[in-house]
Amino acid sequence: MTFSPATSSEVGYSQSVESRLKVQHLQQRTKEVSSLDGSDVVEGLTNESKFLPARYLYDDRGSELFEEICELPEYYVTRTETSILQNCAEEIAEITGACEFIELGSGSSTKTRILLDAYQKLGYPLHYFPVDVSAGILETSARQLLVDYPWLKVHALAGTYEQALGELQRSELPNRMIGFIGSTLGNLNPQQCDEFLSQITAGLQLGEYFLLGVDLHKSKDILEPAYNDAAGVTAAFNLNVLNHLNRRFDGNFDRTKFEHWTFYNETKHQIETYLRSLEAQTAELRALNLKINFEKGETIHTEISRKFEIDSIEQLLKSKGLVTQKIWTDKNEWFALILSKLT
Ligand code: TRP
Repeated sequence: MTFSPATSSEVGYSQSVESRLKVQHLQQRTKEVSSLDGSDVVEGLTNESKFLPARYLYDDRGSELFEEICELPEYYVTRTETSILQNCAEEIAEITGACEFIELGSGSSTKTRILLDAYQKLGYPLHYFPVDVSAGILETSARQLLVDYPWLKVHALAGTYEQALGELQRSELPNRMIGFIGSTLGNLNPQQCDEFLSQITAGLQLGEYFLLGVDLHKSKDILEPAYNDAAGVTAAFNLNVLNHLNRRFDGNFDRTKFEHWTFYNETKHQIETYLRSLEAQTAELRALNLKINFEKGETIHTEISRKFEIDSIEQLLKSKGLVTQKIWTDKNEWFALILSKLT
């Protein structure tokens, strides 16, 4: 990908934020129409067991609430991953050298700063390509990074992972690394996970890197509170999907008539998250010409968070040609960062 020429009045002043920023709104391609025109919502809500694609959790408000989740005492995930990154960021920079860093699901890019600091300290140039479906948080975070890191170039991509991976050109710097941290891989079911990793492989050239952060299997006494916090932030995050649908598809879901419900499925090693109807009711999404009936206690499945074992995830990566270079974990082995290379 190339940077477009600066468009601001500060052209020529190479330090300006505008000259180092490009924001690109990815176009939908035909095969992805179903993920943007609401037919995925129709499919989910007319299914025998109702479900919604997890992407609808992340409108701008949802992304804000997710940032709050990351700060919760019960949600060990972000804190643990951050501490691992603090310990290994310089090693990662040492392994990749100067590179383009494409981060899928970048959100507020808070953890990214740890990597940026490491590349800065070692003097390796880095071009940052954050990818997020939430265009608002994407652009705000990119601007803040450019203020804080005067040497950095950012090319922000607003769209889905599939769109972004389909757009990747050869790297302009000697190497490239795709990052997928925060255990977002766990939000894909096994089939989606397989397809996703194939897209990663297809997006990389031989010798390029994939940095993956995954949450590991552990006791449900630790897992369940992380997805059902005492302050109710996770509940608000889950229920916000109904506001998003209302706004986007002219709907009349009443969020006071649903509750957040979550548990750890110990057989499948996954947290399952649902919205549960508190009474028999009908909701409507007028723009989709859809009326949805609920019985009391009926659920809408909104998310899974799978919890992995290091060995099996390594095997899976290897089957896609992604060979482990190094694995870092915390002292409890709650979370793992895996750096692999396409060979
Ligand atoms: N990637 C996060 C995770 O699986 C997403 C997440 C955190 C989440 N808390 C949630 C998704 C609650 C749905 C509901 O940990």
